[in-house]
Amino acid sequence: MESSLGLLLVLISSVAIHIGQAQDQKEFISLDCGLPANELSPYKEAHTKLLFSSDENFIQSGKNGRVQANREREFLKPYRTLRYFPNGTRNCYSLTVEKGRNHLIRAFFTYANYDGFDNNPNFDLYLGPNLWETIDFQGQVKSVRAEMLHIPTSNSLQICLVKTGTTIPFISTLEIRPMGNDSYVTDSGSLNLFFRRYFTESKNYIRYANDIYDRAWLPYFQTEWTQISTTLQVNNSNSYIPPKDALSTAAIPTNSSAPLTIQWNSSYVNNQYYFYIHFAEIQELKKKDSREFNITWNGKVILSSFIPPKFRAHTVFAESPGTCDGGDCSLQLIRTNRSTLPPLLSALEVYTVIQFPQSETNEIDVIAVQNIKITYGISRISWQGDPCVPQWLMWDGLSCSTTDMSTPPRITHLNLSSSGLTGTITDGIKNLTSLETLDLSNNNLIGEVPDFLGNMKSLVFINISMNDLSGLIPQTLQRKGLKLFSQGNPGLCLSGSCLPPKPKSFPVAIIVSVLSVAISIIGILVLTLVLRKKNPSTVAAQRRPPSISSVNVTYANSPASSIQTNKRSFTYSEVISMTNNFQRVVGEGGFGIVYHGALNVYGQVAVKLLSQSSTQGYKEFKAEVDLLMRVHHTNLVSLIGYCNEGDHLALIYEFVPNGDLRQHLSGKGGRSIINWGTRLRIVVEAASGLEYLHTGCIPPMVHRDVKTTNILLDERFKARLADFGLSRSFPVGNESHVSTIIAGTSGYLDPEYYRTNRLTEKSDVYSFGIVLLEMITNQPVIDQSREKSHITEWVGFEVNSGDIRSIMDPNLQEDYDSDSAWRIFDLAMSCANASSKRRPSMSQVVVELKECLASEILRRNMMNRGRMEARSSAEVTVLVDTEMFPVAR
Ligand SMILES: *[C@@H]1O[C@H](CO)[C@@H](O)[C@H](O)[C@H]1NC(C)=O
Ligand SMILES: *[C@@H]1O[C@H](CO)[C@@H](O)[C@H](O)[C@H]1NC(C)=O
Ligand SMILES: *[C@@H]1O[C@H](CO)[C@@H](O)[C@H](O)[C@H]1NC(C)=O
Ligand SMILES: *[C@@H]1O[C@H](CO)[C@@H](O)[C@H](O)[C@H]1NC(C)=O
Ligand SMILES: *[C@@H]1O[C@H](CO)[C@@H](O)[C@H](O)[C@H]1NC(C)=O
Ligand SMILES: *[C@@H]1O[C@H](CO)[C@@H](O)[C@H](O)[C@H]1NC(C)=O
Ligand SMILES: *[C@@H]1O[C@H](CO)[C@@H](O)[C@H](O)[C@H]1NC(C)=O
Ligand SMILES: *[C@@H]1O[C@H](CO)[C@@H](O)[C@H](O)[C@H]1NC(C)=O
Ligand SMILES: *[C@@H]1O[C@H](CO)[C@@H](O)[C@H](O)[C@H]1NC(C)=O
Repeated sequence: MESSLGLLLVLISSVAIHIGQAQDQKEFISLDCGLPANELSPYKEAHTKLLFSSDENFIQSGKNGRVQANREREFLKPYRTLRYFPNGTRNCYSLTVEKGRNHLIRAFFTYANYDGFDNNPNFDLYLGPNLWETIDFQGQVKSVRAEMLHIPTSNSLQICLVKTGTTIPFISTLEIRPMGNDSYVTDSGSLNLFFRRYFTESKNYIRYANDIYDRAWLPYFQTEWTQISTTLQVNNSNSYIPPKDALSTAAIPTNSSAPLTIQWNSSYVNNQYYFYIHFAEIQELKKKDSREFNITWNGKVILSSFIPPKFRAHTVFAESPGTCDGGDCSLQLIRTNRSTLPPLLSALEVYTVIQFPQSETNEIDVIAVQNIKITYGISRISWQGDPCVPQWLMWDGLSCSTTDMSTPPRITHLNLSSSGLTGTITDGIKNLTSLETLDLSNNNLIGEVPDFLGNMKSLVFINISMNDLSGLIPQTLQRKGLKLFSQGNPGLCLSGSCLPPKPKSFPVAIIVSVLSVAISIIGILVLTLVLRKKNPSTVAAQRRPPSISSVNVTYANSPASSIQTNKRSFTYSEVISMTNNFQRVVGEGGFGIVYHGALNVYGQVAVKLLSQSSTQGYKEFKAEVDLLMRVHHTNLVSLIGYCNEGDHLALIYEFVPNGDLRQHLSGKGGRSIINWGTRLRIVVEAASGLEYLHTGCIPPMVHRDVKTTNILLDERFKARLADFGLSRSFPVGNESHVSTIIAGTSGYLDPEYYRTNRLTEKSDVYSFGIVLLEMITNQPVIDQSREKSHITEWVGFEVNSGDIRSIMDPNLQEDYDSDSAWRIFDLAMSCANASSKRRPSMSQVVVELKECLASEILRRNMMNRGRMEARSSAEVTVLVDTEMFPVAR
């Protein structure tokens, strides 16, 4: 969704389309969203001859919309109607696909003021539980397209529109095209389309049926080029099957000794690119003529002396992704000095790697809960998409076990209490084999209580009270370790004869009543506390937020909430509202507890409530916060706003969903353990964030609390440094500005700062050294049970043997290069040098780390070499010389 090559990525209607002979489109899914099913559906779209049908059978929610009447003729028919979603946070299409096969997935969004609000909608598009793209109409773009090549891991594909702000998500078309599976293979991750061009002076774009996979090829040409073309047939039968029409023209540089250059840039400097360059020689060469050129990527030769085959497609691609320094990418074709003719280029596709780290919920659980949903006709708006993940969109009434992102979550709690259920207890429940609690109370269920419930091993709690169930409660349900609540079913009995039908109170029922009395009492107490909170002198209320929902709170997700858009300062009651009354703790950082929250325009946020002890006398709060809000860097967690109301001080940050580096080293908190290459990338990014604080901010800023738990990971696993700068003048007390009480975390604390009380950037470098040691070893920073309790002493002692493996994290399973490990170790030790003068600067650290990362990428690519060679064939060239992809230097 970035503009590249100076062109918009979208283009529809009003231009002619090449039409080829009709081909089989049986396997395609082409949905014209918002088309009422009673209008002619499916219909054949006039230009492409694609059969579009209404989306009604693939989604249960949303409303039909239509672009503004006077603009209809700007768009082809499929883009004129749309489906929009005023209700619910997540609305999903559910489509059937072939597991394990590569698919082209394309969604198209044409706003055209369908709602008359003339706003710029902004919302997220999810693939199952993972973010795919943010759809943003900022800048009045006409249409937005998201497209990727993806191999589904199950036969069902969920494509969800997620509301992230105040605007309403919508969608115009959704298209799925199964592809061959011997093309577009990646190391890991899927391919998000960046652009796909063919080189021609015409204005026509190519789609189905010219392209049998219905990839859309947009025309592109530069003034310094000349077009060549042929009317002869070009053989396109390689595994990529580039459309013949795209191969029948090509660009050559007009100045025949100049290179042919394609450049683009992206603000996502860490993008990893895969490209596929399609060539065919389409001129009849004279005897003495030759066309031969080198291909370079960011100035490095990646393929030398390439000769495009005559009238036959040839595709060049790299097996592993490339990166671009500073976001500026350049692909050049440079004529060799043997060649008499300039280089030629037919078509080019560029994709970025997109990772979908969160696994979908266990497939059997998903099918089971969907069957239950159908059986009981449950139509809750949240019951769409993946049942368990992302956690903030979990279906109402469910809880799930989520060990780590790579393990499919399991459903552990199902609460359908007061849901108007009728009929019998469904056996669909049987297939939820990890279910621990089941609450079916307060419904109109009839029939007998089925046996299987007692045989579900994991079940420990069943509530079937207040229904119309009858008969005997099966023996199996009276097992130990299973709590059963069954009162309020007049026809149900525990044992023996069910007659006479005089109401009989079971022991469980008594427990329940006692419990409910107790709960009411607690409730009254809590309410009293909550009401007392209104009095600002109530200490308890000041120090800790109330932990039980009180009345009279609007939640950020509800339409009633009216928190304004780009506002920075929030009241305490808005903080309560956005955190849903401090419901979910997501961490405990320096100076306070961090809560999860939701704020219309930002989606999820993290709210740090500064504890009272740390806020005492914190006079410079506002000035400092204003300064922090101006710091923006891709590897720093941004501060969005704050609350400064009496004794209530809170900071509102962007929410970074994937835990912290510490968790991904230890595997705690259900996090996946990351490999050496990923560790290196994460520390490069964290170091860049820190370097920015030291050298890019005016005035320079010292972080003061660099540690692995402050290195957070976002949905794409990008490192984001948290909690910076906060302690700059914190808390003042009776000491002067810079020499405050020692802030920071023990173990990470610069011993020189501790001695001298003088704080410099080099104190951060020390802490960063400790982070590097942790990353290498996964050892605690301080462990009193070790003979050498501090990590620097411990590694120094252990590594005396001369064997780096003695300190390396065993979880890495020796999958790293020992030279690289030594380099990082040496770097860490120089950062953690006792004397600040002998420590490197963060800029030097960044340079060194990047070199290590580059050689790690090279190493991994070398390991892949065997595989690649097997795959190259006459029609495609796989680039194996991977030195071509140094990461950003
Ligand atoms: C959707 O929202 C409309 C109002 O915007 C409301 O009338 C309707 O009942 C809602 N539907 C559901 C299923 O919540
Ligand atoms: C795709 O791969 C599967 C095996 O994974 C193979 O059976 C199938 O034939 C392949 N399909 C195509 C179109 O190559
Ligand atoms: C195209 O090339 C392939 C192999 O390179 C060959 O098998 C096929 O017959 C050719 N097709 C045409 C139409 O020439
Ligand atoms: C053609 O390109 C070459 C190499 O880039 C350059 O030296 C030369 O000046 C160019 N000629 C013209 C006429 O632009
Ligand atoms: C991309 O490159 C062009 C030309 O070099 C430049 O004008 C533009 O500012 C760059 N954009 C970004 C985002 O770097
Ligand atoms: C083409 O690549 C080869 C091998 O890297 C190199 O020796 C040669 O100088 C290159 N030629 C040009 C014109 O860049
Ligand atoms: C170009 O060719 C000449 C000989 O024909 C050779 O001496 C020279 O090294 C070549 N230059 C490059 C850059 O390859
Ligand atoms: C089920 O949800 C209801 C409210 O919707 C709640 O009162 C009840 O405690 C929940 N049951 C369990 C077992 O959590
Ligand atoms: C339980 O799952 C199996 C397949 O895993 C399926 O065959 C069966 O029909 C399911 N049972 C119910 C009651 O849904």
